[in-house]
Amino acid sequence: MKLKILVGTMTGTAESVAQSIQMDCTDLAASIEVQSMDGLSVAVFDAQGEAEEDLLYLICCATHGSGDVPDNASDLYDSLDLEPRYLGHVRYGVIALGDQCYPDTFCGGGKKFDARLLDLGAQRIGELCCLDASSGIDTEAEAVRWCRQWLAQQP
Ligand SMILES: Cc1cc2nc3c(=O)[nH]c(=O)nc-3n(C[C@H](O)[C@H](O)[C@H](O)COP(=O)(O)O)c2cc1C
Repeated sequence: MKLKILVGTMTGTAESVAQSIQMDCTDLAASIEVQSMDGLSVAVFDAQGEAEEDLLYLICCATHGSGDVPDNASDLYDSLDLEPRYLGHVRYGVIALGDQCYPDTFCGGGKKFDARLLDLGAQRIGELCCLDASSGIDTEAEAVRWCRQWLAQQP
């Protein structure tokens, strides 16, 4: 199985999380690609010659503004609305980064992607991993721990 991690970030934490997963989960995937969401569209979910059942997507997305996706994720997020297409072939997970200091919009960026992907028929594997910047946890280590369990569930 090949893992593609799509990164939405403003200040780099989500990117560090994705890179940690790329380094520490190599034994659980045939390949792990990290791709910034900058300039992406819904076409990123086209299998592009890969066997669909071999591909797994991980949305790794921070929250900014008031529960919004980061600026670099807005093209992709908007494209899911403006160019909607059935994504029944897409299997994905979500790592949502946020801060409980914003209780009403906690992890809103990742949650927004999740809701939109579900609307388009994509299949989420497992529950969201919500990482709280105010909790004092080691964000990268927690993400790797979650991702290892998540990847181990894959058939
Ligand atoms: C200006 C600003 C607004 C934020 N708004 C929210 C928010 O509405 N909800 C939330 O859960 N976290 C919010 N956060 C927290 C970030 O999502 C969190 O710090 C995250 O780890 C940042 O990831 P990044 O470095 O990849 O951008 C906000 C942070 C900043 C600086």
